[in-house]
Amino acid sequence: MKTRKLKANIYWVGAVDWDRRLFDELIPLPDGTSYNAYLIKGGEKTALIDTVDPTMANELINNLSQLDIQNIDYVVANHAEQDHSGTLPQILKLYPNAKVVATPKCKSLLMNLLLIPESKIMTVEDRETLSLGDKTLEFIHAPWVHWPETMFTYLREDKMLFTCDLFGSHFAASNLYVIDEATVYEAAKRYYAEIMMPFRTVIQKNLEKTKDLQIDMIAPSHGPVYDKPELILEAYRDWVYSPPKNIVVLPYISMHGSTKKMVEYFVGALVERGITVKQFNLAKTDIGKLAMALVDAATIVIGSPTVLVGPHPNVVYAVYLANALRPKLKFASIIGSYGWGGRMVERITEMLSNLKVELLNPVVAKGFPKGEDFRKLDGLADEILDKHKKHNLTD
Ligand code: FEO
Repeated sequence: MKTRKLKANIYWVGAVDWDRRLFDELIPLPDGTSYNAYLIKGGEKTALIDTVDPTMANELINNLSQLDIQNIDYVVANHAEQDHSGTLPQILKLYPNAKVVATPKCKSLLMNLLLIPESKIMTVEDRETLSLGDKTLEFIHAPWVHWPETMFTYLREDKMLFTCDLFGSHFAASNLYVIDEATVYEAAKRYYAEIMMPFRTVIQKNLEKTKDLQIDMIAPSHGPVYDKPELILEAYRDWVYSPPKNIVVLPYISMHGSTKKMVEYFVGALVERGITVKQFNLAKTDIGKLAMALVDAATIVIGSPTVLVGPHPNVVYAVYLANALRPKLKFASIIGSYGWGGRMVERITEMLSNLKVELLNPVVAKGFPKGEDFRKLDGLADEILDKHKKHNLTD
């Protein structure tokens, strides 16, 4: 992808990765991704904001060459993760005058992860500024979006905020800016769910830090640039601050049909009571879709058969993920089946320790569900409705 001009002397010089389908060997990328890097030519100095994933180093190097950049004074490393910092070694070789600008924690990570010499890195404190001549960079420490060392860079004169991972989306596009708002919203929500949601409370603090800034444009390091920042700011306010909604997320798996029968019956019971259900068959589901559903849900009900005394391994994976992502859930329960015994319910319950949820009475059938099991499922649906009402989630 060729370079694009954002404002006078400010250019996108990154790389679009249309083909990548997995991040961290974990996160599905149905829409690919991009690694955005930005070049700022000041009256006296030139700065590069972030680099790109090392697999696409040539794209960045070609883009800098296309702009005929002979010298770079500063390479701002907003984040040490390799999808943004991984091309630093090549850039420092090509531009030997360049100094890396980073938080003290980022410096340590860059030295350890990429073996960047200490002498090449200058650290900046929170709210420290750096003049490029007619343009001023202000560094805002913003830990835990996504690692402990992360920061934002604010370009004062142009009112641009470079946020690296925060507000990003794994979305490959030829357009520099958001064109189709609904599509980008979906990709940004998936990104928030998978990457940012565990840091929800700290994101609140970081959003506070940007409140007084005038922001014309938000330029993250993944996905399109927001020339109308309110779209993503409003979305984050909803995802981070709003109470959960009248939604039950139901990840399940079934081996011989007993748990599936319970799930089918239970979903019907919830729908009859006016509760929205998001059901995921863990043998087939895109785990990113499950993460997205957890952003807004008030309740999770996990459906599992019993395998070798515990839950099905796919259920273990989903529960581990839900627990790690720390969504806003308020209630949890378990439904499922067993043949002759086991500790399926206990094992799942132990895995929910991060979630501040009230555990509602599980319903577990011996073999195929029968009359009493269906009555208990109705009871669980009643209890969920009652809890949602008491928390004013059904309006
Ligand atoms: Fe896009 Fe945390 O790296």
